[in-house]
Amino acid sequence: MTGGETCGSGAIMFRYRSSLVLHDVTRRAPWTGSTHDGGKAALYRELAEELDALLSGEDDATANAANAAAAIYHTLPRLNWAGFYFLRNGTLVLGPFQGRPACVRIKVGTGVCGTAAAQRCSVLVPDVEQFPGHIACDTASRSELVVPLLRNGELLGVLDLDSPDLARFDNTDRTGCEALAAIVVRHLARSVL
Ligand code: SME
Repeated sequence: MTGGETCGSGAIMFRYRSSLVLHDVTRRAPWTGSTHDGGKAALYRELAEELDALLSGEDDATANAANAAAAIYHTLPRLNWAGFYFLRNGTLVLGPFQGRPACVRIKVGTGVCGTAAAQRCSVLVPDVEQFPGHIACDTASRSELVVPLLRNGELLGVLDLDSPDLARFDNTDRTGCEALAAIVVRHLARSVL
């Protein structure tokens, strides 16, 4: 995997090695309990490769988004929510996720998700109480990272991660999650709803 920057240039420039194998449920994967000791960036690289393989075997959008949410939630530590909102008639609507039940509709431009959608840019919030208009779906959430899902500049939705810890997310998480979002977008592009 090689990574790139999203905002500013207006282009997503991630490139990935093509998957060599489809997902094998008997094979060790990051979400089965990673023994990775190579640090956070290495964990994201491993997760990206396994996610790519996992999604390669299916062309149903709901199934792939559901498995992506589960893979992220069960791989990355200290999360209480991970999932998707998809743009439907100009509004973000709840998609597949892991965590407690959440708000279903979010207007573009409101909350952390709506801000990321409006700006088409990742939003990293170290303390949700300091973010004006933060929408509290789970009172346990203390910090949040939202990454837009963009296909050729078109907004498809957002990937949202919440943590019960203050300042849980940093720039490694941002670039790692942008890479994961790019994989999801690439697979959704050939998906059937
Ligand atoms: N906190 C988000 C709402 C979605 S939940 O966190 C799942 C926001 O402010 O947009």
